[in-house]
Amino acid sequence: GVSLRTISTMEKDKEIKEITGSQKQQLAKLIEEALKAAFPDVSDVQPLVAICNDPRHGDYQCNNAMSLWNKIKGKGTQFKGPQPVGKAIIENIPASEMIESSSIAGPGFVNIVLARQWIAKSLQKMLIDGIATWAPKLPVKRAVVDFSSPNIAKEMHVGHLRSTIIGDTLARMLEFSNVDVLRRNHVGDWGTQFGMLIESLFEEFPNWEAGSAPAIGDLEEFYKASKKRFDADADFKERAQKAVVSLQGGDEKYRMAWSQICEISRNEFQKVYGRLGVHLEEKGESFYNPYIPSVLELLNEKGLIQESEGARVIFIEGKKIPLIVVKRDGGYNYASTDLAALWYRLNEEKADWIIYVTDVGQREHFEMFFAAAKRAGWLPLNENDYPKTSHVGFGLVLGEDGKRFRTRSTDVVKLVDLLDEAKNRCKSALEERGKAKEWTAEELEQTAEAVGYGAVKYADLKNNRLTNYTFNFDQMLNDKGNTAVYLLYAHARICSIIRKSGKDIEELKKSGAIDLAHPDERTLGLHLLQFAEIVEEACTNLLPNLLCEYLYNISEDFTKFYTNCQVVGSAEETSRLLLCEATAVVMRKCFHLLGITPVYKI
Ligand code: ARG
Repeated sequence: GVSLRTISTMEKDKEIKEITGSQKQQLAKLIEEALKAAFPDVSDVQPLVAICNDPRHGDYQCNNAMSLWNKIKGKGTQFKGPQPVGKAIIENIPASEMIESSSIAGPGFVNIVLARQWIAKSLQKMLIDGIATWAPKLPVKRAVVDFSSPNIAKEMHVGHLRSTIIGDTLARMLEFSNVDVLRRNHVGDWGTQFGMLIESLFEEFPNWEAGSAPAIGDLEEFYKASKKRFDADADFKERAQKAVVSLQGGDEKYRMAWSQICEISRNEFQKVYGRLGVHLEEKGESFYNPYIPSVLELLNEKGLIQESEGARVIFIEGKKIPLIVVKRDGGYNYASTDLAALWYRLNEEKADWIIYVTDVGQREHFEMFFAAAKRAGWLPLNENDYPKTSHVGFGLVLGEDGKRFRTRSTDVVKLVDLLDEAKNRCKSALEERGKAKEWTAEELEQTAEAVGYGAVKYADLKNNRLTNYTFNFDQMLNDKGNTAVYLLYAHARICSIIRKSGKDIEELKKSGAIDLAHPDERTLGLHLLQFAEIVEEACTNLLPNLLCEYLYNISEDFTKFYTNCQVVGSAEETSRLLLCEATAVVMRKCFHLLGITPVYKI
């Protein structure tokens, strides 16, 4: 085992960054000042700012008046009700070029209309300084995103595909928000399944020797065959169990066999990651194995570990069944590994947010060991304090028959085949549209990949992750409706408007100005400016679907604008081309955060 250096989470050098930035946050700051000025005696009032439910009333609303009134009424206040409280807030909002007007509605809602000029200026500034200046600021320095995490030698199933797609997006959003992200592939490389695999390898390939070329062709088939044998042949089972002991005892020959089996799996997984453009760093279960004894000892010293029916367990308040950390046979398990990994991530890697992406079926497991970590004092009791752990659960992938997704007659879906099919369908669709003649073979290939893989990702991400979703090629590859195909085409069309204008957009950025005179221009501009707060919300709540919804709405806003406002050849051409460019920039960043490659022509 490994001896542990430090266990205190208190020593961590956490400079919590101040939250500033998005349009909503800037507005909240103005409201905060107004609250302080109007109600100097009431302390600790957080500004409550939200997007207006009804855009006819304003862009944002401040909802502080009602709760403030409840706080001060009957305490000798000069105010007569929530309405005058709201009025006092309005009167004390500091002068700012951000706000055009404020009004009061109902029982004290403060509705705020942003200044058109301010929206326009902010868009212009972004075009010059880049969209990175719109990155939200989160109170997190370093995060671990534990995602994908398939099991060696077992198939990588659609559940792992979901984890890969969702986890990658969360990592991208955090990275964009300037969080240092450790993208961890917590592969299952240390189970008892290795006993039977190694034993089969030795028996089927008697000439196998450490360091030789991979003997096993199809690892999945190999796994199935040895599992069959394990279940049917008692002698083999015993030899397999002994093999586990040799492996875990560090026997060189067994270690080599193990590492070769892992390598074969790794190469298979990499085909999926390569197609999806997902980057991960593997730190599998085996990595944490040496830490388990000392970590359990720490928990034992704190009095957390008890004996129960021959096993060593941790009891969790509110749970009937305890968390088993040492099995009856003395072996460690999934939970002991996760406790060691959590210790490592907190103390060695100094992460302040640790995010686990798996199907909802594992919720209980995560709840249990998170609770154990709280009992041990590794994590603060308050859910909102850091360091923090979050389980990002997701629902099942269903086939059109409403059952667990499968293809053809096989039990599982070969993920590589699935992705290839999406791409090939896109390629055919492009060929049907005559693109094979118009484009180079490479362009055709790249566009088919971008659209095909993008479609698979978007179909998954656009749903609230907790719901099951139905995998349907025809639906996800439709060029109408809320699909990646539609959105990628919409973006390409904007690029072509700019191209066809014949104007140099870089020149326009420097010399031209945006003016949002038409209401559809203003609406589009306002929504583009909401990008930062949407990304922040999607990050904070770990919900990529919020970003998808935003992207779709932006493209709808754009269509409306483009239908009602002539761009090329109009008196407002410069302003409108810049608005087109700002839309394209925001859409591209959304694609990027969703792991989708944008296309520029179609
Ligand atoms: N290998 C596991 C599975 O396939 C997922 C691991 C998730 N990560 C973790 N730290 N438990 O279900």
